[in-house]
Amino acid sequence: MHVLVIGAAGMIGRKLVERLAASPSALGGEIGRLTLADAVAPVVPAALRSVTTALTFDLAAPGTAPSLIEGRPDVIFHLAAIVSGEAETDFDKGYAVNLEGTRALFEAIRREGQREPYRPRVLFASSIAVFGAPFPEIIGPDFFTTPLTSYGTQKAIAELLLADYSRRGIFDGVGIRLPTICIRPGAPNKAASGFFSNILREPLAGKEAVLPVGEDVRHWFASPRSAVGFFIHAATMDTSAIGPRRNLTMPGLSATVGEEIEALRRVAGDKAVSLIRREPDPVITGIVAGWPTNFDASRAMALGFRAETVFDEIIRIHVEDELGGRLP
Ligand SMILES: NC(=O)c1ccc[n+]([C@@H]2O[C@H](COP(=O)([O-])OP(=O)(O)OC[C@H]3O[C@@H](n4cnc5c(N)ncnc54)[C@H](O)[C@@H]3O)[C@@H](O)[C@H]2O)c1
Repeated sequence: MHVLVIGAAGMIGRKLVERLAASPSALGGEIGRLTLADAVAPVVPAALRSVTTALTFDLAAPGTAPSLIEGRPDVIFHLAAIVSGEAETDFDKGYAVNLEGTRALFEAIRREGQREPYRPRVLFASSIAVFGAPFPEIIGPDFFTTPLTSYGTQKAIAELLLADYSRRGIFDGVGIRLPTICIRPGAPNKAASGFFSNILREPLAGKEAVLPVGEDVRHWFASPRSAVGFFIHAATMDTSAIGPRRNLTMPGLSATVGEEIEALRRVAGDKAVSLIRREPDPVITGIVAGWPTNFDASRAMALGFRAETVFDEIIRIHVEDELGGRLP
């Protein structure tokens, strides 16, 4: 099996590659060839070194996508993106990568199939940003997509393309609408959603974190381990059960900031919680007020997708996967 991971140097890409290295038969067959591609150099896992090619490339550059597809990968994980904040401030870059880059990839697959029959499985990282306020209390699987950001618009267009190219038999695609992935490892970033992870990750490392919003703010979460699980399940499932609606809202956990903090207290104690400093930020509070809070993911769950059901589990996963099981 030839597996291609685009966006392999990103947070989810790295974790997916680590999982494939730890469980080489996770995709239901031996990985005979692994191609890792990203704008920054992907890390090659030692266990798969002999079968891995790592490429540094720009998906939006003309001619790039066909060069990725000429090796005819059987499974393609498309995780590369300009994420929400940057896609909003840099209109051209967001459309070039998230829309034109994705279209170029899909077209390269179509051209390859015209040369010789070819129908790979394509797993696309979409987002709950395809939905837009005003929201019902619980957003159902059939809620319409009216994004309120350029990023959400680019993901929604890509979802339509994915469904149409799948309908035409060009590839076998599944769009994975990810919840906000928490706890995001690494240094705090400037994403407006960053505090949801920062207020847990930093205290778990014995450091202070800033909470810019009130404790009643509610949002929709899954762990990085679940995100990887969604992609692996989508790569191996029987897609005939999906039907024409190829883009699925993944399961997650609806929780308030206050519930996050209480989960931190249960797992790591009062000392960790005392490291959270409250510094209300009206800009972030305003942005977050327009975000969805809860989803009905029953359709994806009926198809076998699973995520955490209590927040303590999300914190324990971070402690196991990122801190070697050690608490401060
Ligand atoms: N993390 C989340 O909470 C979340 C939520 C919803 C959707 N998603 C989606 O999941 C995917 C992965 O998310 P992540 O958190 O790992 O993001 P990330 O920013 O860590 O990784 C994205 C990767 O894409 C690469 N990339 C950007 N432009 C590129 C280009 N022109 N050519 C090649 N590579 C390029 C970046 O270098 C980066 O390594 C993205 O598509 C994102 O939109 C993530």
